[in-house]
Amino acid sequence: MFAHLNEQPKDKILALMAAYKEDPRDTKVDLGVGVYKDASGNTPVMRAVKAAERQLVNEQDSKSYVGLAGDPAFSDAMIDLVLDGAVARDRVAAVATPGGTGAIRQALELIKLAAPGATVWLSDPTWPNHPSIIKYLGMKMQTYRYFDSETRDVDYVGMLTDLGAVLPGDIVLLHGCCHNPTGANLTMPQWKGVVDLIKEKAAIPFVDIAYQGFGDGLDQDGAATRLIAESFDNVLIAASCSKNFGVYRERTGILMAVTKVADERALTQQNMSYLNRQNFSFPPDHGARVVTMILTDPELRADWEAELEEVRLGMLDLRKQLADELRRLSNSDRFDFLATHRGMFSRLGTSPEIVEKLRADHGIYMVGDSRMNIAGLNTNTIPILAKAIIDAGV
Ligand code: LMR
Repeated sequence: MFAHLNEQPKDKILALMAAYKEDPRDTKVDLGVGVYKDASGNTPVMRAVKAAERQLVNEQDSKSYVGLAGDPAFSDAMIDLVLDGAVARDRVAAVATPGGTGAIRQALELIKLAAPGATVWLSDPTWPNHPSIIKYLGMKMQTYRYFDSETRDVDYVGMLTDLGAVLPGDIVLLHGCCHNPTGANLTMPQWKGVVDLIKEKAAIPFVDIAYQGFGDGLDQDGAATRLIAESFDNVLIAASCSKNFGVYRERTGILMAVTKVADERALTQQNMSYLNRQNFSFPPDHGARVVTMILTDPELRADWEAELEEVRLGMLDLRKQLADELRRLSNSDRFDFLATHRGMFSRLGTSPEIVEKLRADHGIYMVGDSRMNIAGLNTNTIPILAKAIIDAGV
């Protein structure tokens, strides 16, 4: 049987992660996978997470099953964090999922049940696992323009033009904040324009929000998702706790479905729980429980928010340092976009050949489409990267 298997396509981000590990050079710089790193290159366990875990070890008296949708307290806390009252709680169905990827997968499965013929529209570019899962599930997909490779900003006109071809009932996947891989984001007036267009087309928005708190702050990063949630009868939202709680390996995420009325919510909830049962039964609990403890305990929450803010400001500072150094070396403002982008990533906007040259000559690892993880930099590596970028003729 196994002899009949075909080789599957490799995920380019994970392949890069493996290549970095194997590189023996101690001067190598990892700007690949989207994992936060401090100035020493470590991915620390956040203080509030450690404290909640300690408390959990002492207090937890059972590891028995919780429920197919996960702990309702986790759903409540996450709905509050992401939607902050934008829609009535009794209109939101929710299930805990194994990470943000699990939420995306379950959302797509739900779309297949509710609207089998719908086309899913993706930004070009997007996180590579979006098209990969959609293709695996045999669903229809289309792309809309998103990134202007000249300005390195959002191609807003191109985006609206392409979304003009969306059909009623189609699904439009949007990054709630901190666009991955580009780092270029819509302004609030632009979000309003996109919402109006999707409404006019009678399409359904699907928000992937994996970096809340990494861009302009916890509250501001949720603003677009809230605008969308309050503007439509039906919305899907996949939220990840991997990055903003630093619980990557615990696989902590949630799928929310905004429904029109409470009756529709009950049916949607039943379908979402059913899908969990089919795919993995009960969702992982540890990370979700830790997140719930942090969000509902004022002291833990204050400490988490403070540390998340340190992380965010640290990344903004790195962006500024890199943009300043490139301004100095290039005698131009053409790299200023690096300071304007938000989130963990920026797309440098250069060719795969130059990306490969940076890897081969300098041990600088970025994804082939020239996505850089800004958190992989520090004060020592910024001048090295900036010089390499200029020397490579970017
Ligand atoms: C990334 O984009 O690098 C992260 O979301 C990690 C992943 O799973 O791809």
